[in-house]
Amino acid sequence: MKRPYDELMSLPKAELHLHIEGTLEPELAFELAARGGVTLPYASTDELREAYRFEDLQSFLNLYYELMAVLRTERDFEDLANAYLERAAAQGVRHAEIFFDPQAHTSRGLELGTVVEGLWRALGNSEANHGVSTRLILCFLRDESAASALATLEAAKPYLDRITGVGLDSAEVGHPPVKFREVYEAAAALGLRRVAHAGEEGPPEYIVEALDVLGVERVDHGLRCVEDPALVERLVRDRVPLTLCPLSNVRLRTVDTLADHPLPAMLDAGLMCTVNSDDPAYFGGYAGDNFDAVRETLGLTEDRLRELARNSFLASFLEDDEELRARYLAEVEAYTFT
Ligand code: HPA
Ligand code: ZN
Repeated sequence: MKRPYDELMSLPKAELHLHIEGTLEPELAFELAARGGVTLPYASTDELREAYRFEDLQSFLNLYYELMAVLRTERDFEDLANAYLERAAAQGVRHAEIFFDPQAHTSRGLELGTVVEGLWRALGNSEANHGVSTRLILCFLRDESAASALATLEAAKPYLDRITGVGLDSAEVGHPPVKFREVYEAAAALGLRRVAHAGEEGPPEYIVEALDVLGVERVDHGLRCVEDPALVERLVRDRVPLTLCPLSNVRLRTVDTLADHPLPAMLDAGLMCTVNSDDPAYFGGYAGDNFDAVRETLGLTEDRLRELARNSFLASFLEDDEELRARYLAEVEAYTFT
């Protein structure tokens, strides 16, 4: 008999909320630093892990941006993505829609092409090498200016065959979605899909704005919707997917403990929830680990776990390959919990 943990590792799932820069494990950070001649202000991987005691989103982001200094060449981005895809595959991820933060790299002097082509070396071969289909989502940093976001979209034009959609991340409070109206309109005109982080630390109004002003098709996190019953009703009615990240919420103190996470109540309310890992190297687990944590601590039933897996494929941007989506969904339905 399979242990419950192993069982959830083989449940087929899609990862819809994953920052590739947040998959940088300390060991790889040191390896890339040595290869690139970069000095990290930590003596060892243990000392670096010690620094992972976050107070909130900003204290995490400070470390997240600092460590990006080790990513310098196409090969660095390729190695980062392959390391993630290998781990994801081992946790039952069959499809991954991967965020990246171009401005965090171009502001350090890298070319956007280095980032996109490096990631693509891994993503373009991922179905063959890892059995994981992929999509790439370009995120704008919301604590940078709207003009910088527009310039980033412009710079991405040569790479649009590699990019499925746009997202919005980084420090949320004080940077409402409306700031990015123009760049989202431009992205929509280019045929890009739209998502945005909203309602992680920011208020429910930011979720409403992301829907109304940016036209997002999924809400990343969206956790704080539970504070606004009218919004919950709307999200249920319109079947707007939420990409929840339970272990991230605990580490960034968005919830006090995992036992306090509103996921079960959100599912009971009929919200279209998915479970994802956000920045797994920093938050203590990949997609399967997040499934296991919510099963273990929140007592989700097999029906609920299957629903989460089903939702992940239903909410995927697989409109260009409905056959593949149907295959994944059939795998979810055929999956037997022992
Ligand atoms: N929230 C906002 N921005 C981010 C995150 C997150 O969890 N991870 C990486 N950038
Ligand atoms: Zn995120």
